[in-house]
Amino acid sequence: MTEFSKNKISRREQIEAKVCDILSEISSPTERIRSTAHLFGTARMAVLIAKKRGLDEDLAYLAGLLHDLRRFMTGISKEHGPDGAALAGSLLDSTGLFTKAEREMICGAIYFHSEKDRRHLPFDELLKDADILDRMLAVSYEKMTGADGERAKRLSLEFLSRS
Ligand SMILES: [Fe+2]
Repeated sequence: MTEFSKNKISRREQIEAKVCDILSEISSPTERIRSTAHLFGTARMAVLIAKKRGLDEDLAYLAGLLHDLRRFMTGISKEHGPDGAALAGSLLDSTGLFTKAEREMICGAIYFHSEKDRRHLPFDELLKDADILDRMLAVSYEKMTGADGERAKRLSLEFLSRS
């Protein structure tokens, strides 16, 4: 791809294409569909939360899209925050279209996203909440326990309660 044609495609589309390429390597159709649904679902939930909380929607979408890619690619859950942040950083760098600050925001949120029992910066919390919100809508959130359950309760008040 030439520099000219590359720049005509938005940076979001470039990352989406890279994510889809990696996900297409997952051999089990069920796992491939589940993984794709969770990444795109979390990306959209991240935009919803960003709109509500006044955070950057574009970066939120990309953090959601990239957050579990490494875990789905390797099947390894241990340390998938830090490892996932490293993979996300290399994909963002490969486009040459992200500033250092944007890269740090996305990768920082991915780095910490498994630590649902702790509080980090607002953008980090956005990604943790988007991850939970997507799972809440895919599975019954009453089944979520511990730190995930506490977050699910807070999110259901913020987004799902009838006023
Ligand atoms: Fe996730």
